[in-house]
Amino acid sequence: MSRVRTAVLISGRGSNMEALIAAAADPACPFEVALVLANREDAPGLETAARAGIAAEAIAHHPFGKDREAHERVLDTRLRSAGVELVALAGYMRVLTPFLVRAWAGRMVNIHPSLLPLYPGLHTHERAIAAGDSHGGCTVHLVTEGVDEGPILGQARVPILPGDTADSLAARVLVEEHRLYPACLADRARSLLA
Ligand code: GRF
Repeated sequence: MSRVRTAVLISGRGSNMEALIAAAADPACPFEVALVLANREDAPGLETAARAGIAAEAIAHHPFGKDREAHERVLDTRLRSAGVELVALAGYMRVLTPFLVRAWAGRMVNIHPSLLPLYPGLHTHERAIAAGDSHGGCTVHLVTEGVDEGPILGQARVPILPGDTADSLAARVLVEEHRLYPACLADRARSLLA
């Protein structure tokens, strides 16, 4: 079976990346993780990916200063030279410019730790608790030019319990992220193969 060559972009610990790599260990999974890229040399997830035998590289953004597009052009060149067909953002903490979003339209997905359209941006769990919401959760969506705005591919809901803190809720949502992301990415990969 041919599998969709997928890159995972990270900035930090990369637990969602790890869940995607674990899912792709099943030969029936329609995507393979061909490359992991980080925008920081010290992203702990790079080490995790390398240990799993995945090509893992940093393309740091800091040498590019304010020129975000110049950084993205280097990322894009690397993605293409690796034969990547699908890009999964997994805790990639950079707002993308229209250049990269358009270059990968329909082929770039993101996971966000809220029930979008609620709480785009940061501090999602704190905001859900402060609002008195009954549930938090996570969303996998296609990446479009608006931040955390693209068409929704899947969501998982998690009850907010009395006494929950942002950290306790984040930990329970993360468990669901690790289930939701591989499932949604597999659906997307299947649609690209069809
Ligand atoms: C996750 O909560 C993800 O939803 C958000 O950033 C966090 C990344 O965590 N976009 P990890 O690096 O995958 O562990």
